[in-house]
Amino acid sequence: MKAYHLNGQAGGAGLLRAEVSKPEPANGEVRIRVEAVSLNYRDLLILDRVGQGGLNGRVPLSDGAGVVDAIGAGVTQWRVGDRVAASFFRDWVSGPFKASYVPSSLGGNTMDGMLAEYVVLPANALVSVPAHLSSLEAATLPCAGVTAFHGLIARGQMGKGDTLLVQGTGGVALFGLQFAAALGARAIVISSSDEKLARAKALGGSILINYRDTPDWDVALMKATNGEGVSHILELGGPGTYDRSLRSVASGGKIVQIGVLTGFGPKPDLARLQWENADIIGVTVGSVEHFTAMNSFLSEHAIHPIVDRVYGFDEAPEAYAYLRTGSHFGKVVVEL
Ligand SMILES: NC(=O)c1ccc[n+]([C@@H]2O[C@H](COP(=O)([O-])OP(=O)(O)OC[C@H]3O[C@@H](n4cnc5c(N)ncnc54)[C@H](OP(=O)(O)O)[C@@H]3O)[C@@H](O)[C@H]2O)c1
Repeated sequence: MKAYHLNGQAGGAGLLRAEVSKPEPANGEVRIRVEAVSLNYRDLLILDRVGQGGLNGRVPLSDGAGVVDAIGAGVTQWRVGDRVAASFFRDWVSGPFKASYVPSSLGGNTMDGMLAEYVVLPANALVSVPAHLSSLEAATLPCAGVTAFHGLIARGQMGKGDTLLVQGTGGVALFGLQFAAALGARAIVISSSDEKLARAKALGGSILINYRDTPDWDVALMKATNGEGVSHILELGGPGTYDRSLRSVASGGKIVQIGVLTGFGPKPDLARLQWENADIIGVTVGSVEHFTAMNSFLSEHAIHPIVDRVYGFDEAPEAYAYLRTGSHFGKVVVEL
């Protein structure tokens, strides 16, 4: 079968086409014929440190969907032909997060990912693809969709009458925007591009701020909300946005701390959090249980993920390069 391996060189040259033998499912495992995979910002970070230990020879990408192609002994919940997607952490099935789940993230330091024709995974690390979604759409869900759902809905309890701030128009941000629209929450979108803001408006964004033209977007946000601020924030920027997020949160609001778009390790002044009785919710993607709950939500509200561009398997390096430009709106997908 064909696959890509990370080959120890940073950047686009770090992706190597490989021919490897088709994996066989052991007891309790399922083989998936992968039909589509999607890229996340994380995959750029991984590609950039591919020279560091562990990653050499790994199959990249956490997110993929396809069809069950073979089942190992003892598997009762799946049949050949079922449409499935893989969960981001192979070992986080349900319940609270444990640090021991970290090494089981697909396409990370210690576990092969989804950029291959066939992948074998434990039966309990998979979810059914919602009937209204294609494999191409389902491939966008495991990291970006589940992260937004876990943070905003499972933990953040966002609902009608709430106000959400989303930063940018990438994968996680647009899932957040679609979830807010489905729940009847008001969404504020900040973006580098007026054209992207116009598209975000069509998805339900009601207050739109260009953060290039308006670097003090927190001031504009406060003005637009009559000094109240927002009840929920998808904090995607990190050090470059965190203080503005803190200045934007409403009394009793929740900052869902997710992203590193401007770097790692924000050092925020947390004083306002106390005075506003606000919370920070730290999120690392989510479990199979979160994924399953999100799929019910997507079905209930007939939500289709926003796919910006689709590349062929041979064009995977181009897909990475396109994501790196930041010109995408939503998700970038590779079809197999
Ligand atoms: N903690 C977790 O479990 C978890 C899970 C998923 C993702 N993440 C993190 O969340 C972030 C988003 O991931 P993603 O895959 O959705 O990324 P993505 O699709 O690559 O989104 C990139 C977009 O973010 C926007 N952006 C960049 N810098 C910004 C800034 N300073 N302020 C506001 N927006 C900015 C830009 O949108 P515009 O062009 O519209 O400005 C850019 O196109 C990343 O840092 C990723 O590592 C964390």
